Amino acid sequence: MRVLLTGGAGYIGAHTATVLAGRGHEIVLVDNFANAERDVPARLARLTGQAMTLIEADIRDTETLTAALRAHEVEAVIHFAALKAVGESEVDPLLYYDMNIIGTIRLLQAMRAANVGRIVFSSSATVYGQPDSAPVREDAPTRAENIYGRTKLVMEDLIRDLARTGPLRAAANLRYFNPVGAHPSAQIGEMPRGVPNNLMPYITQVATGLRPHLNVFGTDYPTADGTGVRDYIHVMDLAEAHALALEYIGAHDETLTLNLGTGTGISVLELVRAFERATGRPIPLHFAPRRPGDVASNYADPSLAARVLGWKARLNIEDMCRDAWRWQAAQAGINDI
Ligand code: NAD
Ligand code: WQD
Repeated sequence: MRVLLTGGAGYIGAHTATVLAGRGHEIVLVDNFANAERDVPARLARLTGQAMTLIEADIRDTETLTAALRAHEVEAVIHFAALKAVGESEVDPLLYYDMNIIGTIRLLQAMRAANVGRIVFSSSATVYGQPDSAPVREDAPTRAENIYGRTKLVMEDLIRDLARTGPLRAAANLRYFNPVGAHPSAQIGEMPRGVPNNLMPYITQVATGLRPHLNVFGTDYPTADGTGVRDYIHVMDLAEAHALALEYIGAHDETLTLNLGTGTGISVLELVRAFERATGRPIPLHFAPRRPGDVASNYADPSLAARVLGWKARLNIEDMCRDAWRWQAAQAGINDI
């Protein structure tokens, strides 16, 4: 298919582009580089052998988006572009409403103008807030516990509404759990700016010596070892699920809402031990109080995605740690594994 990726130079978008190119899809990347490095499109071209069209634009620029959709005869959009920092969203809600909600409305207007009726959307496990129990199914109650989460819920609703009323014909709301890892080539990966909020990039920066230790936020959760439990999923598995979702909605006029996770809960300490095993690098720990807003345990029931798409995560926690480290080590100029 001819597919336009908003936020296509970002972490998950770029990995998805490699998988889409490998499956023969034609890709147009749209990004304003608010949170991406400018050399990502060139890296993607080298990796895939496909010179992808890059349009440097903001998704709120409906005119440019409409022209791009028309000029490239785009058949579907994968909508990654958004701001994603929970803490920042609580400091500047209007920024998040504008980028995420208004941005999505502008994109949907462009899709209507260009008669593009298919969309895959980056939603998040954050829509479950503090889940009543885990594993979490897609029909579990949703709740916004921060502004970022609220924007994801609104964006899902906008897409579902327009799939019901038109002009959308088919949509897939993909609820990612905790994406980690990097492309096995170590040519693309996650590049957080400043101090990482998320666990895996923090661990890899401790491993390079950039940070002295990992703060383990909370040791008194009602979990097996007292630390928070999450469903970490390799970004390449996630990327494959996007390709399958795209191909599914290309063939069926349906609206899907799917969890993307492995179905296995991993604690902070289990992740640290897996990282040490996979890389041979020690991670010094400091035990710290709980981080406000964190849930004890959240992991997916991914069986709906298995049934509908025939998708299942294939890579395990060691693969995730190894690839996250290979990427971070390459960035830091460490010739390690
Ligand atoms: P990312 O920041 O690496 O990628 C987002 C990309 O969108 C960046 O390249 C950024 O420059 C671009 N962008 C942002 N605002 C834009 C705008 N107004 N116009 C054009 N481009 C814009 O983030 P990611 O981790 O790849 O996340 C992709 C999507 O997945 C986001 O919607 C995010 O909310 C969602 N998500 C991410 C995670 C995660 O942990 N990484 C988990 C669940 C959901
Ligand atoms: C995982 C575990 C922390 C950092 C966040 C967003 C969510 C989604 C993914 C986009 C928790 C612990 C972390 C550290 C630690 N993003 N931790 N020390 O909180 O599940 O989800 O990112 O949609 O919306 O909220 O992921 O990687 O931040 O934390 O001990 O330095 O690691 O307490 O138990 P989280 P995370």
